[in-house]
Amino acid sequence: MSTLIAPSILAADFANLQRDIEMVNNSEADWFHIDIMDGVFVPNISFGMPVLKAISKHATKTVDVHLMIVDPDRYIKTFAGLGANILTVHYEACTHLHRTLQAIKAEGMQAGVALNPHTNISLLEDTIQDIDLVCLMSVNPGFGGQSFIENTYHKVRQLKALIDSKGATTKIEIDGGVTNKNAKDLKEAGADVLVAGSYVFGAKDPVETIQNLKEIVS
Ligand code: DX5
Ligand code: ZN
Repeated sequence: MSTLIAPSILAADFANLQRDIEMVNNSEADWFHIDIMDGVFVPNISFGMPVLKAISKHATKTVDVHLMIVDPDRYIKTFAGLGANILTVHYEACTHLHRTLQAIKAEGMQAGVALNPHTNISLLEDTIQDIDLVCLMSVNPGFGGQSFIENTYHKVRQLKALIDSKGATTKIEIDGGVTNKNAKDLKEAGADVLVAGSYVFGAKDPVETIQNLKEIVS
C-alpha cells in the first residue's frame, strides 16, 4: 500500500489559511496534520480550538490532530466536536494512557499515541492493540523546520516488529524533518504515514511537492 502523506498545517500561511487548505484538498495529499501546542508540554504555542474549527469546516480529507498538551483528557470531547477524525496524545503526557485511548474511541475518533525521540518503543507493548496510530517524533516536538533524527529508522523497525508480533493493525506515522531525501527509506522501514510541514509549504510549488512525495512512496 502506498504510504500516506499528511501536510502539517503548522507551516501554512495563517493569513491565507483557506487558500492553503484548498491547496491540500486539491492535491494528492491524504490527510491534514494539525499541531496543537500549549506552551507547557512543549516550549511553543501554536493555535487552538477556533482555528481547528475553521480548518475542519473546509477540509475534505481526514483531520489528524496531534496534541502536544499536558492533561489531554480534559479536551477529548471538545476535539471530537471540532472535527478531529484522529486524536493523538503524547505518551509522556498521559498518566492513564489506556483510559485515555478508550475515551478517544468512545467519542468516535481513532486513537493515536505520539512518542518523543527519547521514549522507548517497548513502553507500548501492553497497549499497542488499543492504538490506531503511533506517531513517532523524528524531531523534538514544538517546532517545524528541524532536522530529522536518524535513530528514527531503528525505532520504525522496532515498532513494526512489535505491531506484527501482536497481530495489531496500528499505523506508523513519522513526524518531523520529512523530505524527498528520507521518504523512501522511511517507507521501506515500515512507515504508513509521513507528515511534512516546511518541506511542503516552503516549496515553490506545494502541489507538485506533494505529488513528488507520493511518487517516491508509491
Ligand atoms: C513538530 C510538529 C510537526 C511539524 C513538522 O512539533 O509535530 O508536525 O509541524 O514540521 P516539519 O515537517 O517542518 O519538520
Ligand atoms: Zn505533529
